[in-house]
Amino acid sequence: MEPWDMETQTIKQEMGTPTRRWGIGAFVGVAISLALAGCTPVALGVAAEVAPAVVTAAPTEAAPAAGAAASPVVRSVAVPWVPPPDYLTSDEPTDAEIRAQLIATRQDLCQDMELASSIILNVGILGEFPGKIQAAAGMGITALEDELQVCSPSDDDAKSTARLINEVHQAEWLAKLHLTAMESATMERPRMRPVNADGSFAAFLTLHDVLITQMRADLVALTDGSPTLEEAQQMGVFWLEVLTAHAQAEDEALFPIARAVGDPTLIRSADVIEQEHGPIKGAIERYMQTLAAVETGQADIEELIPAAREARALTELHFGREEATVIRPLQLLLADEQFRPAVEAQDAALGPWLRAHGWHGF
Ligand SMILES: [Fe+2]
Ligand SMILES: [Fe+2]
Repeated sequence: MEPWDMETQTIKQEMGTPTRRWGIGAFVGVAISLALAGCTPVALGVAAEVAPAVVTAAPTEAAPAAGAAASPVVRSVAVPWVPPPDYLTSDEPTDAEIRAQLIATRQDLCQDMELASSIILNVGILGEFPGKIQAAAGMGITALEDELQVCSPSDDDAKSTARLINEVHQAEWLAKLHLTAMESATMERPRMRPVNADGSFAAFLTLHDVLITQMRADLVALTDGSPTLEEAQQMGVFWLEVLTAHAQAEDEALFPIARAVGDPTLIRSADVIEQEHGPIKGAIERYMQTLAAVETGQADIEELIPAAREARALTELHFGREEATVIRPLQLLLADEQFRPAVEAQDAALGPWLRAHGWHGF
């Protein structure tokens, strides 16, 4: 047995019964059903009932630095085991094996929708959900409820294989609708992660927040159905003169500071995070090429939206990972003045812009 197989076996034994392919049920369509109920207090009461049980009460975040605002205690909740799929073992599977795979995949996708519904209920975006999921689907809630029947299947044996394939696609589309509506709702809010820092670390983290706020505002302007050339150009200025300058200042100061600590994990994280600047740059280049075509009348403004969405999504994920794997570890390892050059580099590159957009510096 390969070492990783043994490791997997151990984890399985520790975690007990797999949770994949639980019965379809309680959560499927919860968000849509609650939306249909008009998000009444009664409906929201149901949300409280289905909240997961608390397993332990132990703070998992580093304690806030002195002077930082106290944040709520983070509760540690047991994570269920999510095993990998049951892959086909034959190159020429039987029709029965293929059908079993399709049914299992449909069930997994319906379970993903349950997870999305749970998050929607728990992060306070239920109120916006009806409008957003209808916009994403291009259909009303009642029609969507009909579509949801795919997650309450019966008599699969009587269905053709083609019908099962279509049901997998249908479940995938429904899960994507939930995620799209959820992403749109969360984008309208300030970031939810606490700063939990002081001095130059707080300055760096709040700098990220300022960048994200502007990036989201520019994207909202571009995607509100009536984008102007000026709005498109403003986003171009943000990409080139603000975000790119931020990344360059990190390359010059942040990552060298992280590597200089000498910790192998931190060095690897710095390498990975620095690499992530590449795909963001690629999306920005596509945006700027399309913007040039828009400016000469060779493209419509809406054609900018895919690159803008991609650059924004990559950037937010990157910021999150950069904070989790580089900034937070440095916060535990370095004194404030040792990290300060990373912020001074940002100040030199972007200080006036950042202060004009609400950044308070050190
Ligand atoms: Fe970065
Ligand atoms: Fe960054």
